[in-house]
Amino acid sequence: MNKKEDLIEKDLKTESLDSEANLRPQKLLHFIGQQNVKGNLSIYIRAALQRDEPIDHILLYGPPGLGKTTLANIIAKEMSVNIKMTSGPVIERAGDLAAILTNLKEKEVLFIDEIHRLNRSVEEILYPALEDFALDILIGKGPSARSIRIDLPKFTLIGATTRTGLITSPLRSRFGVISRIGYYNEEELHQIIVRSAVILDIKIEESASREIAKRSRGTPRIANRLLKRVRDYAQIEGEGIISDEIALFALKNMGIDDQGLCDIDKRLLLVILDKFKGGPVGLDTLAASLNEDKETICDVHEPYLLQKGFLARTPQGRRTTEMAYNYFSLHRYSLEDDDNATLF
Ligand SMILES: Nc1ncnc2c1ncn2[C@@H]1O[C@H](COP(=O)(O)OP(=O)(O)OP(=O)(O)O)[C@@H](O)[C@H]1O
Ligand SMILES: [Mg+2]
Repeated sequence: MNKKEDLIEKDLKTESLDSEANLRPQKLLHFIGQQNVKGNLSIYIRAALQRDEPIDHILLYGPPGLGKTTLANIIAKEMSVNIKMTSGPVIERAGDLAAILTNLKEKEVLFIDEIHRLNRSVEEILYPALEDFALDILIGKGPSARSIRIDLPKFTLIGATTRTGLITSPLRSRFGVISRIGYYNEEELHQIIVRSAVILDIKIEESASREIAKRSRGTPRIANRLLKRVRDYAQIEGEGIISDEIALFALKNMGIDDQGLCDIDKRLLLVILDKFKGGPVGLDTLAASLNEDKETICDVHEPYLLQKGFLARTPQGRRTTEMAYNYFSLHRYSLEDDDNATLF
């Protein structure tokens, strides 16, 4: 190991001690992939720091497990400010949000996860807060009611969502930065796995890490989860080191194939192929046939299948592609084979 690697390793180890084996990178420098998003954020952060201002409101969107929460934490850290975290469904009443906002300090970051799930009356409080750093409060009732305006500290809102389509346009238009977080490529996932292995003190061969990367559905959260599960196999069935053989054995036993498709993905495609002759099928029908929740299908399974080219979305519903048809003829997989579903 050369000096630079040694330093990086030390840095990572300290980082892991600080955050109790947390795998979330703490600095933009350690955040792997998303070059474009990272490059832009780095400019906005530096510019805001130079002007001694809070960074503009940021909306991060993309499928689950790709690093939205991680990035929000990193932005606050790079700006050297506190982050307060909450989520859309938790803020039930307008008063709850008003309390959170009035308790913020200058330049602090407020992170609202699942921001598409804010209810309308709560969302309306946000508009003047984001635009003018002010709260409009109605005092009294009837003809004597009047509205007073309370100034808020200049803060940054970071919103995260898996469904940008569900964000109302008045809310969306109040974000100064809107960034899409997309799937990672195999090389990036491999780097994430190697980094996590160093932090967790796991020994893994390069080819094994590449194999896990290939099957991680472009998602760091899944890569980390598979790494931990494969480690269990290495510990019990092998000699503690994750070799190529152990990785393949473990992944096979977990029902994850070389395309990263889990059993629910396969079932989804097969239901369309088998029961609906390739589609089109509406989401409700599909969810009912699979006995799965609509949101999970939309957020987790569909985006990956669409990206891989197994599924197509048309105004009439979902259709399987020729690729999906070929995949199943090749694997001779049928609905009857499917009894141990791996959940993601
Ligand atoms: N670029 C990255 N480099 C290294 N690790 C990453 C990266 N992105 C994400 N991770 C890892 O993946 C895990 C999931 O990331 P995170 O919780 O930020 O995803 P998310 O987009 O907020 O997901 P959700 O939509 O479900 O809230 C983190 O614990 C982190 O360890
Ligand atoms: Mg998150």
